[in-house]
Order: sequence, then structure tokens, then C-alpha cells
Amino acid sequence: MMYVVFLGAPGAGKGTQAAVVAEKIKLEHVASGDLFRQALEKGTELGKQVKSYMEKGMLVPDEITIRMVLDKISKMDSQTGIILDGFPRTLKQAEELDKALAGQSRGIDKAVYIKVGEKELLKRLSGRWICRNCQAPYHIIDSPPKVKGKCDACGGELYQRADDTLETARKRLEVYFTQTAPLIDYYQKTGKLLEINGEGKIDEISRRIVTALKAGRS
Ligand code: AP5
Ligand code: MG
Ligand code: ZN
Repeated sequence: MMYVVFLGAPGAGKGTQAAVVAEKIKLEHVASGDLFRQALEKGTELGKQVKSYMEKGMLVPDEITIRMVLDKISKMDSQTGIILDGFPRTLKQAEELDKALAGQSRGIDKAVYIKVGEKELLKRLSGRWICRNCQAPYHIIDSPPKVKGKCDACGGELYQRADDTLETARKRLEVYFTQTAPLIDYYQKTGKLLEINGEGKIDEISRRIVTALKAGRS
């Protein structure tokens, strides 16, 4: 069993890389943002609770987020392990995750920090389209789908996230630097941090991550 956290700013490529790496080393991929967006699309009670935060580019309160993710993990019976993408995002979330895993005599094995410069982040967010059905991310220039407007993986319709406007993307970056960036230190201190250069071709970055995870595991 391996628990890996993917850390990084909005647009760093957490979702893109988590999908590829999970496939390559046979882990499950759990993305807090995807779970929230699915709840929004379905119009569930959770969706209603989180809508205004997400639209504004603010974090959903810890209490709601922690409950949702820990509940999801506890219901999965993965034999190999899990990549957590977009969770934890605050110190409180990281501590509660550690506590919950410690309760099962487990812990986070590695935190993969995908580092990308701010200019590149905004470029990536403004060109992103995602699948309404499976949430796979595409980019109009850097990672286009084979058929325009359609998901390669499932044929679903592609759309632009409401929080990918320049204004909300900037707000999300600000929230990231104040509330989430301190986690880099949190995982560094316990020797779990793997810093990865997140600029370059998507498959090059995947190779960097897989190599780092394999080196860290042996
Ligand atoms: P979430 O969905 O997690 O969004 P985020 O952290 O802002 O990150 P993104 O999904 O925007 O970026 P990514 O790193 O996954 O990049 P991607 O791979 O898509 O969260 C959304 C909201 O939900 C939050 O604002 C908050 O309200 C709430 N939320 C979620 N988790 C929460 C938590 N734990 N606590 C509280 N609230 C929470 O790539 C981006 C683009 O770049 C794509 O177009 C992609 O094709 C392209 N791209 C990727 N790699 C490359 C490359 N190497 N070169 C060129 N283009 C690339
Ligand atoms: Mg994402
Ligand atoms: Zn799809």
C-alpha cells in the first residue's frame, strides 16, 4: 500500500500527472476538486454547500472537505494505494489525514510537489477544457483532444471550468500561496517531499515523477 499526495498550484498539472502516474504504477486516483465538481453537476446537498466557494476560487471549509475525502478513502478497497490530488490543501487537512491514516497504522509515503512558474500556470488554466463525464483535462494548444470538443477517453463533452477565468484563476493562485504552500514545508520536514520540475512535455514530467517515486520507495 502506498499513499501519495500531489501538491502544486492551480494549473501545475496535478490532475494530468495523477491520471498518468496512477495508470503507470497502478494506484487509484482521488481528486477532491473532481469530487466537488461531480457533486455540483448532480446538484447534491454537498454540491449546493460548496458552489459559492468554488465559484469564487476560495477553499471549501476544512470540515466539509476533510469529511468528504476521508469518507471516500475509507470506502475504497485499493490493494495497491492511492494518489490524492488536491488534498490536503491546508495544514488542518494534512494533520487530519495523518491522524486518520495513523489510526490504520499507515501514513503518507511521499508528497510529490509539482513546481511551475506563475506565468505558465495562468497560460495553462486559460486554455484548459475538461470532460463533463470523466473530468480528464485537455489544453487547446498543448494537449488538444483528437476530436474537437470530445474527450479521447470516454467521448464526453468538453467544457471550460467556471473558475478558470483570469480573475478567478488569480484568486485561486493567491489562496494557494497563502493557505496551501505551507504544506511544502510540512512534508519537507518529515522527509517525504519530492520536488519535481513541472515545466516541459507532459510525458517527460510523468517520467520524472515515476523515477522519483521509485527511487523513494526502495
Ligand atoms: P481543484 O480542482 O483541485 O483545482 P486546482 O488545485 O485549482 O488545480 P487545477 O485542477 O486547476 O490544476 P491541476 O494542477 O490539476 O492542473 P491540470 O492537470 O488540470 O480545486 C477546485 C476548487 O475546489 C478549489 O478552488 C476549491 O474551491 C475546491 N477544493 C478542491 N480541493 C479542496 C481542498 N482540499 N480544500 C478546500 N477546497 C478544495 O492542468 C492544467 C492545464 O494545463 C490543462 O489544460 C492541461 O492540459 C495543461 N497541462 C498540464 N500539463 C502540461 C504541460 N506539461 N505542458 C503544457 N500544458 C500542460
Ligand atoms: Mg486538477
Ligand atoms: Zn471523458
